[in-house]
Amino acid sequence: LRNSFAPKAGKQNLRHQYYLQPQASSSKVAILGAAGGIGQPLALLIKMSPLVSALHLYDIANVKGVAADLSHCNTPAQVLDFTGTSELANSLKGVDVVVIPAGVPRKPGMTRDDLFNINANIVKTLVEAVADNCPDAFIHIISNPVNSTVPIAVEVLRRKGVYDPKKVFGVTTLDVVRANTFVAQKKNLRLIDVDVPVVGGHAGITILPLLSRTKPSVSFTDEEVEELTVRIQNAGTEVVEAKAGAGSATLSMAYAAARFVESSLRALDGDTDVYECAYVQSELTELPFFASRVKIGKKGIEAVISSDLQGLTEYEEKALEALKPELKASIEKGVAFAQKQT
Ligand code: NAI
Repeated sequence: LRNSFAPKAGKQNLRHQYYLQPQASSSKVAILGAAGGIGQPLALLIKMSPLVSALHLYDIANVKGVAADLSHCNTPAQVLDFTGTSELANSLKGVDVVVIPAGVPRKPGMTRDDLFNINANIVKTLVEAVADNCPDAFIHIISNPVNSTVPIAVEVLRRKGVYDPKKVFGVTTLDVVRANTFVAQKKNLRLIDVDVPVVGGHAGITILPLLSRTKPSVSFTDEEVEELTVRIQNAGTEVVEAKAGAGSATLSMAYAAARFVESSLRALDGDTDVYECAYVQSELTELPFFASRVKIGKKGIEAVISSDLQGLTEYEEKALEALKPELKASIEKGVAFAQKQT
């Protein structure tokens, strides 16, 4: 694939990794909630991937213009728009990866759990449609509270008889992206080298960055560990407060979700070296869902990486035990919601 508008001189300018890789574009991706704060920049980033042949944009409103706009970018993905529930099924037919950022975001003073009542129903309805129309697709759930919406999605898929635990992912990549950024800044490391696994869940104290597992190996004082951990856990709130009522993280979230989508597409394309953190069904702890690093392959999760949880520091051990009751309650809330539906 050659990018026809790349400048002749200065090959660095537009030689972004997405544009010029000579790979076949073959996967179809759907974004449900594509006209939203996350949906729009995420659609743009996915449109840039050479691994995408078709990008289906679904929302209850305002998606036509987004699709028209994006469709003018000269990258291979064909952009199609789908508006409203009557077009939901068609938006999902033949799709390999479904990304769900549909729902309401937080305003200052809200927790992610405050979004439960609205977003639980949205996720349930959308995942029912996924089960009916593309049951083999990878499902990436962004809608909060992720700690509960993933168990809801799983119950819906189970009831429909199409649940594959290898293919349902709660997207926690933003926690990793934030941890990498904050650690690199604090320790003066090259950003591109830093990788911090983040485990647990995706809300408050359930977000547990394993700083002792940072690559490259780096040592932290107790104060640094406390400060970085709390900042990573509250980074979403930092953005919610800065936006002062205009929503939560959208651009960094779109960046993080695009990374997770690209990793999934690489796995589907046959890359055998794909690792990401995600909130998934898990046997790593006594909880049925837990975020950790997973190895992703053509058929979804090939392995849940357990080694990150071995030999934790005392601080991390304590934090792990402390997060379990909250995460357990969020999981149970999601399961109970899904089970009381007819
Ligand atoms: P937004 O309000 O800007 O966009 C949401 C979009 O969903 C809107 O376009 C809306 O029309 C659409 N929508 C609502 N009901 C729908 C339905 N039934 N079917 C399809 N689309 C529907 O919100 P934003 O900022 O894009 O956030 C979306 C979600 O992502 C929120 O729940 C937010 O809490 C969550 N989020 C998750 C993060 C994570 O790390 N997993 C990080 C940041 C936000």
